[in-house]
Amino acid sequence: MATWGESVALVPTMGALHAGHMALMDLARQHGRRVIASIFVNPAQFAAHEDLSKYPRPFSADVAKLEAAGVDGLFAPEPATMYPPGFCSGVQVAGPANVGLEDRFRPTHFYGVTTVVAKLFHQVQPTAAVFGEKDFQQLAVLRQMVDDLDFPVKIVNAPTYREADGLALSSRNVFLTPDQRAIAPVLHQTLQDCAKAVRAGETQGLARGRSRIEEAGFLLDYLELRDSRTLGEPGQDATREAGGLRLLVAAKLGTTRLIDNVAV
Ligand code: PAJ
Repeated sequence: MATWGESVALVPTMGALHAGHMALMDLARQHGRRVIASIFVNPAQFAAHEDLSKYPRPFSADVAKLEAAGVDGLFAPEPATMYPPGFCSGVQVAGPANVGLEDRFRPTHFYGVTTVVAKLFHQVQPTAAVFGEKDFQQLAVLRQMVDDLDFPVKIVNAPTYREADGLALSSRNVFLTPDQRAIAPVLHQTLQDCAKAVRAGETQGLARGRSRIEEAGFLLDYLELRDSRTLGEPGQDATREAGGLRLLVAAKLGTTRLIDNVAV
């Protein structure tokens, strides 16, 4: 078991590191004397039909990026170390953070995420951990886990890192064809327009956003307005929600599934 005797900020990743991940490493520096990254393509959060086997794994390039960024340590366990034969425990977050968005399309996904992050927290023993707002529901689910189960880890949010045209950086963007890459920014543009419409109290804003995403050629999983803190459904007077509101979207372009979100 690690005993660092000083503050440690952990940045959990699945590798294929891009500028968004590297921004998390920089932010981590403000929350720990030592910054540790983990790379583990976690089988438990992929469903059988998902892209586990083709998930990009450019391991030596990742190591070079972490070294260049001055990250102090890398934890990159093997699947057999994380899930030895006989492994059968896990962490399940219930409640609004885990209801009605991703779970409708990836019912076992966050069970895999919370289980692996709980293991990483025990293994690395960080005092802080940094997660991107790009995966906004993941952040909410992990905050719930840490609060409910008393993990002594401060969860830090990092803003979403985007391309110049607004597309959120993602390890999965490499799967987009040039035509799909040209369409992809519609997702963020629609979120921004939709957020404006919601702020202005336009009742048709969400419906218009959904049509625009579908007309651009996406297969829409959801575009939903949620309370940013709990991720529960907003109340009657949506514009006055105390914790603020968040618009969240998931949509497929061909076989590539993109997610994004913005504050309202
Ligand atoms: P992964 O998709 O590799 O993302 C690792 C971290 O980088 C997450 O906190 C994610 O939100 C953040 N991130 C990804 N793209 C980003 C962007 N464009 N801007 C800012 N942050 C971004 O998320 C996971 O891995 C896994 O579920 C994990 C938490 C490691 C558990 O297996």
